[in-house]
Amino acid sequence: MSGAEDIMKLQIIVGSTRPGRLARPVADWAAEAAEKHGGFEVELVDLVDYGLPLLDEPGPPRMGRYEHEHTRRWSAKIKEADAFVFVTPEYNYGPSVSLLNAVDYLHNEWLYAPVGFVSYGGIAGGLRSVQVMKQVVTTVRMMPIPEGVAIPFVMQHVKAGVFDPPPPVTGSVAPMLTELARWANVLRPLRTAPPPPPPPLPGPATAPPGSAPAPGPPGADTGPSRTS
Ligand SMILES: Cc1cc2nc3c(=O)[nH]c(=O)nc-3n(C[C@H](O)[C@H](O)[C@H](O)COP(=O)(O)O)c2cc1C
Repeated sequence: MSGAEDIMKLQIIVGSTRPGRLARPVADWAAEAAEKHGGFEVELVDLVDYGLPLLDEPGPPRMGRYEHEHTRRWSAKIKEADAFVFVTPEYNYGPSVSLLNAVDYLHNEWLYAPVGFVSYGGIAGGLRSVQVMKQVVTTVRMMPIPEGVAIPFVMQHVKAGVFDPPPPVTGSVAPMLTELARWANVLRPLRTAPPPPPPPLPGPATAPPGSAPAPGPPGADTGPSRTS
């Protein structure tokens, strides 16, 4: 991620890896719109270029001890950003597995980053997939913003591999980017700080060395601490 003086970095994540996907023309358009907006240094990040298999890291992502080169590459790329736009299709009223999988691979790399959504699909413009993604990303402490771009009947607006947005869609991208920049700015101190400590693992309750066991209510068993 960039330092306090630098221009903020926005990554636009292409959320479908399907051959023939419309995600790429939509993401290309979103990247061009973000360049014109001017609030960020913009990079298009295509999941196809990272070849992530279904999550195959044995350790919890929170520990950041990655065994595979594909995870290290993905981690290094995501760490660079201050904010994200997820370009997400709707599959069966939810997001693509490829996008969910890409999120699941990492943890600390996503912390405190704002994210906006460019969604697309049929009549609902992909909004049902966005609602699912919003729940998921809050678990890695991302800040999903309400402003977004929803593209209904996307297939009618892609010709020869180029997305040509209808007017309501065109008008919704700048407000999302402006708000994303505001969030990215205020979240930067959190994003550059060390990650919060992991929650305590479940296990026996322990008292500091040398301390007497805490008295329980009358009649309570103050014997050995719990073991499960
Ligand atoms: C497996 C699958 C499930 C789909 N389910 C939905 C859906 O629930 N709602 C919807 O609006 N469109 C649905 N669609 C249509 C997609 O939104 C549309 O094909 C879109 O182009 C997919 O994104 P992509 O081309 O970038 O992969 C589905 C498509 C696929 C392949």
